[in-house]
Amino acid sequence: MQIITAIKEMQEKIAQYKHNGMTIGFVPTMGFLHEGHLSLVQEAKQKADLVVMSIFVNPLQFGPNEDYDRYPRDIVRDEQLAKNAGVDILFYPEVTEMYKDTRYFHISVSGLVDVLCGSKRPGHFDGVVTVLIKLFNIVLPTYAFFGKKDAQQVAVVMKMVEEFNFPIKIIPVETVREEDGLAKSSRNVYLTSEEKQEATVLYKSLQLAKTLIEEGETNSRSIIEKMTRFIQNHSQGNIDYIEIYSFPNLKPLPNLQGHVLVALAVRFTNVRLIDNILLEI
Ligand code: PAJ
Repeated sequence: MQIITAIKEMQEKIAQYKHNGMTIGFVPTMGFLHEGHLSLVQEAKQKADLVVMSIFVNPLQFGPNEDYDRYPRDIVRDEQLAKNAGVDILFYPEVTEMYKDTRYFHISVSGLVDVLCGSKRPGHFDGVVTVLIKLFNIVLPTYAFFGKKDAQQVAVVMKMVEEFNFPIKIIPVETVREEDGLAKSSRNVYLTSEEKQEATVLYKSLQLAKTLIEEGETNSRSIIEKMTRFIQNHSQGNIDYIEIYSFPNLKPLPNLQGHVLVALAVRFTNVRLIDNILLEI
C-alpha cells in the first residue's frame, strides 16, 4: 500500500493509473477505521481496479462546539487496517496541505440540509461538500463509496455530483452493525460501557418503526411518538431528533410510501450518535 500526503503527488499517480485505463474506487474517511469503513473498501475492490482511501479529519465540517480536537485518531492502526483490507493508495494529507490560510470560495448547500443533521449542525454539509469537491478533483474516482449510516450525506453527495456534473458514480453501502444492532462508528469509543448497552435503543427503535410500518401504520407522528417513548423508557440518552422523510429528496411524507428514511440522533454523555433505516413501501 502506498501512502501519499501531497496533493500533487496524488494527482500525478492517479494520472498514471488512468493513462493505463484503470478504474478508481474511492473511499473517503476521517479515519479511526472500523468494519463500516472496511466494508466500503470491500465494495470498492469488487468494482474498481485500484482502491484509494483518504483519511482526513476535515475541520470545516465540525461546528465551533463540536468534537474536532478530540475526534479519535490513530494513523498507525489505520494504516495496518487499510493495508490488510486491500487499499492500494492511502491519501493522508495534513490540514495545511488541504486548506490555505485564505479561502476565496465558500460552498453553501441550500437544499436537503434544513432537516436531520443539517438543521442541527449548521455549516456541517458545507464543509463536507467542500472537502469532497477537493478530494474528487484530487482522486478523480470512477466510483465513490459512502455508507448509508450517514443517509443525509449520501443524499447531499448524490445531488452534488448530479448538479456539478462530476463524472463519478456514487455507490451507497449498507450500514455495518455490532451483533446487538449498534451501528459501528468511530465515535462509539466515547460511550461508557453502560451507555454502549443503552445505545442499542437507536437500532431497536428503528426496528420498532419498521414493524409498525409493516403492520400498516402510515402516520409519521404516531411512529415518532412511539420511538420517543421507547428510547426514553430504555435509556438515559437525550433525543436530538427523530424524523421520517422520503429518500433521497428528504421531504415530509403525508403517507408513508416509496423510499422512506427513518432517522434519529441521540445524545449520550460525551457523544451524539446517529442511525437510520431505509424502507421500501
Ligand atoms: P467518516 O465518518 O469517517 O465515514 C467515512 C465513510 O464510512 C462514510 O461514507 C460513512 O457513511 C461510512 N460509515 C461510517 N460508519 C459506517 C457503518 N457502520 N457502516 C457502513 N458505512 C459506515 O463520513 C465521513 O467520514 C466524512 O463526512 C467524509 C465523507 C470523509 C468527508 O469528510
